[in-house]
Amino acid sequence: MRLLILNGPNLARLGKREPAVYGATTYDQLTTMCLDAAASAGFEAEVRQTDDEATLIGWLHEAADGEVPVILNPAAFTHYSYALRDAAAQLTAPLIEVHLSNPLAREEFRHTSVISGVATGTIGGFGVDSYLLAIRAMANLLAKPA
Ligand code: DQA
Repeated sequence: MRLLILNGPNLARLGKREPAVYGATTYDQLTTMCLDAAASAGFEAEVRQTDDEATLIGWLHEAADGEVPVILNPAAFTHYSYALRDAAAQLTAPLIEVHLSNPLAREEFRHTSVISGVATGTIGGFGVDSYLLAIRAMANLLAKPA
């Protein structure tokens, strides 16, 4: 089973970017951790990152057409991108929204997610473990009989 793990703007700068908020793990380390965990859970996963909204929307269209489950950290797009939400709403397999930080414990503009309403579930606040928990949750979800 394929799995797309998609990351929005500024997430390639993990490790250098506000480490007190996002931790010291680099994006490359996160990618390796996710690929290992996903392989152990039986997925053929790809981890991608873009700073570009249109590219992220294109990847969601690809997932929708291929019935591919998605783990998505929409980064700042979480809070205002109706275009990303409309793309996420088209998904035909589960979507798990992830965040390294806990947006609800941060600035008020981060308290709104326009993505959560079309996600199967949201995991935030556990640093890189948010992704590992999401991979586990996705595996459990897809293992359940319809
Ligand atoms: C984030 C939280 C967002 O508010 C922020 O814009 C990000 C990262 C997180 O993973 O904690 O870029 O999605």
